[in-house]
Parts: sequence; structure tokens; C-alpha cells
Amino acid sequence: MNQGMVTAAYIIAAILFILSLAGLSKQETARRGNVFGIAGMAIAVLATILSPNVTSYGWLIVMMVIGGGIGAYLAARVQMTQMPELVAILHSFVGLAAVLVGFASYLDPDSHLEGAAGTIHNVEIYLGILIGALTFTGSVVAFGKLNGKIGSKPLMLPHRHLLNIGIGVVCLILMFIFLGAGKGAGAAILVLMTLLAFAFGVHMVMAIGGADMPVVISMLNSYSGWAAAATGFMLSNDLLIVVGALVGSSGAILSYIMCRAMNRKFLSVIMGGFGNAPTSAGADEDEEQGEAVPISADEVAQLCKDAESVVIVPGYGMAVAHAQHPVSELTTQLRKAGVDVKFAIHPVAGRMPGHMNVLLAEANVPYDLVLEMDEINDDLGDVDVVIVIGANDIVNPSALDNPNSPIAGMPVLEVWNAKQVIVSKRGMATGYAGVENPLFFKENTRMLFGDAKDSVNAVLGAL
Ligand code: TAP
Repeated sequence: MNQGMVTAAYIIAAILFILSLAGLSKQETARRGNVFGIAGMAIAVLATILSPNVTSYGWLIVMMVIGGGIGAYLAARVQMTQMPELVAILHSFVGLAAVLVGFASYLDPDSHLEGAAGTIHNVEIYLGILIGALTFTGSVVAFGKLNGKIGSKPLMLPHRHLLNIGIGVVCLILMFIFLGAGKGAGAAILVLMTLLAFAFGVHMVMAIGGADMPVVISMLNSYSGWAAAATGFMLSNDLLIVVGALVGSSGAILSYIMCRAMNRKFLSVIMGGFGNAPTSAGADEDEEQGEAVPISADEVAQLCKDAESVVIVPGYGMAVAHAQHPVSELTTQLRKAGVDVKFAIHPVAGRMPGHMNVLLAEANVPYDLVLEMDEINDDLGDVDVVIVIGANDIVNPSALDNPNSPIAGMPVLEVWNAKQVIVSKRGMATGYAGVENPLFFKENTRMLFGDAKDSVNAVLGAL
């Protein structure tokens, strides 16, 4: 394949990636978006392999078989609930690749860039390694926190902000020394900066509490994109620059959207500390708490039969219990009986963006029944029965009426305005943010205790 054909293939791949992102923004077009993404990546990989730059295929095939094999094995085994972990560890690979490419590029004996071109190349190498290194260790720590190997409590070192600023300033000074240094000293400076960036990545994510992990994951997604773009500059690969910029900017936009959904400031998330033990005074919570009143599956079935409208609010527990198929069946049965059924989806329900939409789509729930929080919140007052299935933080009224709550100000689904609320969960445990939920003690709330799948099946049986 000559260079012209490779460039043409790269342009087609870039267009397919943009179409893929556009498709993934809506549930109806998400499958098509995936197909565009797969096609774009296949074209990109093929064009790169067949480009005139590649002269030997032995190592390439061996590495592709190993990498592809590990990827396929992991993807086939991963549970939906482990998806964020997988994404985190994949980001770490992008970061590590940027570091390795940076060193290889600097030490390449065939590279003879002089003057301004040489300086620009060295800046690309320095920044690529810097972003790659902190993405690598940050993502490994995020992976550890998500799968529970590292505690989710934020690590609060004394003077931690000063420490971060100090590392940043030292890295900046080192860059200027690096640009004036010869190969040998330059390599030593690169190693020193890499170690500092590794430490920075660990410290940055260790300081962030469990509840803010989704934002951190999408922020690391953004960093991995910028690391890939920097790698693209180092290798003079236009497609890698474009794709890196797409990933970098879409990750940044997603972080912003998630912060807005949790009413958190992006900077305060990155500064860390949230997700610690709840800060709200236990006393006023104790005062507020009455008694949680249980309800049986038979009674829930009767309530649903008598209702004109039912809204289902799915949360993380529905994913854990794999209850989406019985929930879909319940929807079908109720609609057959003439009940108006809708789903209310909070933007950060579950453990990743779009988590609930994916599960409901998998269970063939019609898209038009699935409404976003903003589309349905104002109408919840007219609803006869709201069934909360394995959700907790996203329906917590203290987000609105307790300014001391760690989730204060986060927009939530105001389900308590409905005539009757049923909450399906196993016990009285808190959700991800570790905050008590006064919803469970409201007069119009009844608790349907048990695993969500068993509970919904029991309601179905009773119907
Ligand atoms: P959570 O607040 O985490 O609550 C889930 C509830 O499900 C728990 O209280 C748990 O109570 C219950 N549960 C667990 N297993 C269950 C089962 N088998 N059957 C029935 N119930 C079960 O979930 P949410 O309301 O979806 O809120 C999401 C939270 O995660 C937010 O704080 C959000 O910020 C955070 N977060 C979101 C994301 C994204 S991007 N979506 C990513 C990471 C974190 P029991 O143990 O008593 O059953």
C-alpha cells in the first residue's frame, strides 16, 4: 500500500470514528455507532500494517496475536458490573504505550531532527511521556479502587495540594533542562520526570473517594486520548492525532456532564476528598428516621394492578441482581393490563454512563418508555406507583434538603412526590456514596426486601 492509499484509509477511518461517536450518543443508533467504530478501527489497523513504514511482519504478528488474545479473553469474561474496571485498566495500557513510544522515539538512532523541528519533537516526547505516565499509574490505582483491591477511602496526605503543585513545577523546570541537554543527560531527565509523573498519577487518584470514581474514569479516558494524540505527534501519525483528540475531548465533555449530573465542580473532584464517611450530622438523620415499613410481593402486585401509571427507577442493584429481564416482563404484563409504564433514568444510575439504558435495551424494553430524569421528574407527582429497583443515591431526598449531606445539591429523581413508592432492595444498606436515605422512612414508601430479581419474579408470579 503506498503512502497516498494509507492517508486515504486514515481519512475514511477518522470519518467512521466521528460517525461512531455520533451514533453512540443515542440509544436507537448506538448499535450502528459500534459498527462504525469497529469498521474504522479495522481499516486503521489494516492500513497501518500494510503501510510502507512496516518492513517486518514477524514481531507484529506475534504481538497482535498475544494482545488480541488477551483482549478477546478479557472481553468475553467481563461482567457488565466490572466494565468500569476493564475500561480503567485499558486506559493504563494507552498511558504505558505513550511512555514506551516516547522513550523509543527519543532513543531512536535514526532520528536526526535538528533546530526548531528537534525542539518541537522533544517537547512532544516530554509531554507524551508525562501524560502517559500519570495516566498509567492513575488508571492502575483506579482499577484497584474499583475492584476493591485498594480501599475506596480518599488518601489525605498533609499539604497534598502543595505536593501536587510542587511535582508540577519540578516537571516544568525539568522540561527546560531536558530541552537543552544532550542525549545521555536527556534520557536521565526523562527517567526522573517519568518517576515523578508515576507518583503524581498514584497520588492524584488515591486522593479521590469512591463516589467520584466515575468522573475519574472519564477524566483518565480523556488523558489517555491526549496521551495517544501526543504519541501520534511523536510518530507523525495523523490518524492517531485525530483519534487521540476525539477521545481526549469526548472524555473531557463526559467528565463535565457527569460533574453536572452530580452537582460537583470538576476541580473539586480532581482535588479529591469526596466519598469519605458521610459528613452529615448523624443526629439530625436519626431524628428524621422513622421506621421502614415492609411490603409483600402480593401487595405490590395488587397496587400495580390498581394503578393507572407506574414508573420504574432502576439502579445499581438491578444490574447486580441481573433483574432486567423480569423487569422487562413485568413491564409487558402491566402494559397488557392497561397500566401506563415508564422508566426514569438518572444520568449516574449504576456504575457507568448509560449503564441502565444498556441493560434495558438488552432486555428489549421499548426505547420510547425510557425517559431521562429531566424529562420525567416534574411529572412524578401524578404517578400512582413508583418502583425503585436497586437504586439508592439517585432517589435520596437529602440531596435536596440536607445541605450537610455529601451528595447535597446532586439532582435526584423526586420519587417521593408520587402517591406510592416501592423500594426493592435486600436490606437497609447505603448506596455508593455511603449516605443514609430518608426516602425509606417516608410515609408513602414501602420496602420490598430481597434480591431484586427474586422480588420482581415474585411480583410477576402474584400478577
Ligand atoms: P447505589 O446508590 O449504589 O445503590 C444501590 C443499592 O442497590 C444499594 O443500596 C443496595 O442495597 C442495592 N442492591 C445491591 N444489590 C442488590 C440486589 N441484588 N438486589 C436488590 N438490591 C440490591 O445505586 P444508584 O442509586 O444506582 O446510584 C449510583 C451511585 O453510584 C451514585 O452515587 C453515583 O454517583 C455512583 N456512581 C455512578 C456511576 C455512573 S457513571 N453511573 C459510576 C460509579 C459510581 P442493599 O445492599 O440493601 O440491597
